[in-house]
Amino acid sequence: GAPNEITIENKTYATDSWTNTPPSILAAIPRRLHLQPNHPLSITRQLIESRFPTYETHNNLFPVVSVAQNFDSLGFPLDHVGRSKTDTYYINSSTVLRTHTSAHQADTFRADTSPGYLISADVYRRDAIDRSHYPVFHQMEGARTWDRNNLAQFSSLEDAIWADVHAIPKHSTDVIQVSDPNPTYDADRNPLQPGHSAAEIEAVAAHLKRSLEDMVVTIFTSARSATSASPDQQQEPLKVRWVEAYFPFTSPSWELEVFWQNDWLEVLGCGVVQHSILSSAGVPSKLGWAFGLGLERIAMLLYGIPDIRLFWSTDPRFLSQFNENEQIRRFTPFSKYPACIKDVSFWLPKETKEVDVKDPRSDSDVTPAGGLTSPSTPASSVSATTTSNAFHENDVMEIAREVCGDLIEDVRLVDEFTHPKTGKRSLCYRANYRSLERTLTNEETNELHERFTGLLVERLGVELR
Ligand code: PHE
Repeated sequence: GAPNEITIENKTYATDSWTNTPPSILAAIPRRLHLQPNHPLSITRQLIESRFPTYETHNNLFPVVSVAQNFDSLGFPLDHVGRSKTDTYYINSSTVLRTHTSAHQADTFRADTSPGYLISADVYRRDAIDRSHYPVFHQMEGARTWDRNNLAQFSSLEDAIWADVHAIPKHSTDVIQVSDPNPTYDADRNPLQPGHSAAEIEAVAAHLKRSLEDMVVTIFTSARSATSASPDQQQEPLKVRWVEAYFPFTSPSWELEVFWQNDWLEVLGCGVVQHSILSSAGVPSKLGWAFGLGLERIAMLLYGIPDIRLFWSTDPRFLSQFNENEQIRRFTPFSKYPACIKDVSFWLPKETKEVDVKDPRSDSDVTPAGGLTSPSTPASSVSATTTSNAFHENDVMEIAREVCGDLIEDVRLVDEFTHPKTGKRSLCYRANYRSLERTLTNEETNELHERFTGLLVERLGVELR
């Protein structure tokens, strides 16, 4: 279309001063990796779906949504960092690429076809570049509701919910050891919503926890038999723990963490759906829970996939290793081509007071893909407002993506200092150029690096050192 329009799969949108979605991101939309036969993300999706056989699946929802769907309907405050142009891809001021599958909660509750649903979809976030972050990733969202006005033979809502709780497999402590130290709700930290009784929420929380524990048992049992863990380790119970959390659209809220390869790993976020969402969706007599998780993170540990870019590969050496009709087997990496490391140091424009970067000393290498926290929580967010023109690290990342596509593995801040006399601030970023499929030539990396640094100057007004 014309330069003042963007067309995405036959739908045309007017652009404006909020538009910040580059063609490279738009090009990812038709891929729909979570639906591609024998793709690891699709196999992971189906593995999870198999634990929720009665839930309706929605796997084809269009990624362009309104700001109202992505943020307003879910109770995100107007100054929430997730709404900023540095964190979210805007098509125009009222339209975004969804940053999470929760963008579809209200519409799905309104359509009201089944008490349980699962949504799998591609989601989009401006973010850091490393082996576990990619600006397009995939989430699965699930929810289960009950209707106060439709209790069947039960005399109370909690009785109806408990009957459903008892229908979910409960695994013995030989299989899963659950640590859940906090009370279900806490007036200060993790409150009940007005209108919910303690007995109802105890029942909803029990249903939520038992459903999701059953799901992680399935995932991690497959992951373990795919890894070379010794038979001893395979027989040890899986350790999980429930941690209190916060999301604008659930209360109380939790995260589920799993002890995996000697570390606690966040697997999902969840909670009791805010009543305001159900009532504005036209179903005020309902109550229920929702969860959301990142499919890449789970697929990476199921298969031992070391780099998130691999999911986008069309190389048969990658794709041929996955088969949805076979047991999950560990991924065998094909030879890694050499890395080429280049630094860029620059002075920030004099008037820049706010800087939003990650602490160079906190190695974020193992940060799992597809953050579960509500849209992007920067490591050290000093300038997290939607209007600020301050330097934001995500803009550096975005330029690197635009120039290099998948030829860049990692970009990280390695040094920062303030000149004692002039007060000017200097940053140094280290770019790691590497293709998954071939050796890059010197000429090629030099050219990429020159274009990258050139655009840093042009777009961000920095001065190279
Ligand atoms: N949407 C949340 C995220 O992207 C996850 C979530 C979904 C949490 C549903 C609670 C309920 O981080």
